[in-house]
Amino acid sequence: MNTMDSTPPDHAQTARPYYLACGNEERLFKAAYRQGLSILLKGPTGCGKTRFVEAMAHELGRPLITVSCHDDLTTADLVGRYLLNDGRTTWCDGPLTKAVRDGAICYLDEVVEARQDTTVVLHPLADHRRQLPIERLGVTLDAAPGFCLVVSYNPGYQSVLKDLKDSTRQRMVAIEFGYPPADAEERIVAAESGVDPKTAADFVRLAQAIRRLETGGLREVASTRVLIAAGRLVAEGLTPVEAAKAAVVGPLTDDVQVGAGLRKMIDLYLGEGTA
Ligand SMILES: Nc1ncnc2c1ncn2[C@@H]1O[C@H](COP(=O)(O)OP(=O)(O)OP(=O)(O)O)[C@@H](O)[C@H]1O
Ligand SMILES: [Mg+2]
Repeated sequence: MNTMDSTPPDHAQTARPYYLACGNEERLFKAAYRQGLSILLKGPTGCGKTRFVEAMAHELGRPLITVSCHDDLTTADLVGRYLLNDGRTTWCDGPLTKAVRDGAICYLDEVVEARQDTTVVLHPLADHRRQLPIERLGVTLDAAPGFCLVVSYNPGYQSVLKDLKDSTRQRMVAIEFGYPPADAEERIVAAESGVDPKTAADFVRLAQAIRRLETGGLREVASTRVLIAAGRLVAEGLTPVEAAKAAVVGPLTDDVQVGAGLRKMIDLYLGEGTA
């Protein structure tokens, strides 16, 4: 099943989701949005891509419709289908069609998970045409003003089998994300978890050491997200060492030796008596 949710369009009533910019990503996004260009967000897990789109949608005053892509996702899941209702068939818009009609920001998360025959439907939408052909209805919709297609993927997970077609990629402008610089990440971890600045700084130093491991046997390194989870455990009264072991080691690896190595690093960076 694909998940679909939309934020309320009445952004004036809500605070902008907290997002701390780390480069020119906000200027880039807004420029692309104003030009009606589609946007490709690239970056590792837990580095802030989703939060960034939420903040941009809020700032631009557009509804946000999110679809988590997976390999069973069909064109009908995106565009819509006829459903049987009380013995009658009625058309039901999919999330992409709804976004096109409403002038919403449509965010396709982990788009490479979707099969290429599914993403082909994005082509006329993603380029200057800004059109969505709906074969089953025999119509082609022009995207309403404000519509913007945003897709994300994590290049680290990429396999030869799973890649976006070049013709899809070249219809988009890319914004590259990495983990935030140390000072920004410390602020983010403190703000999101409520830990004091020193604890946030310790977690970030640990994460940076893990990120420097080149042959650590890890598929992914410690993300900003896991540091925030560790911070939340500290806010509940656990020690930083306990919190980091629970929030960082288990989520990162099942390998006993790699796990033991990470635990040692945690003792070293966060244990009693560390500066
Ligand atoms: N620059 C930032 N400003 C504010 N919060 C951030 C920032 N970067 C990361 N975060 C925090 O990190 C958490 C994880 O970020 P997010 O869910 O946006 O990651 P993601 O890149 O979408 O990951 P995934 O690829 O796994 O979906 C967010 O809930 C947010 O608390
Ligand atoms: Mg995300």
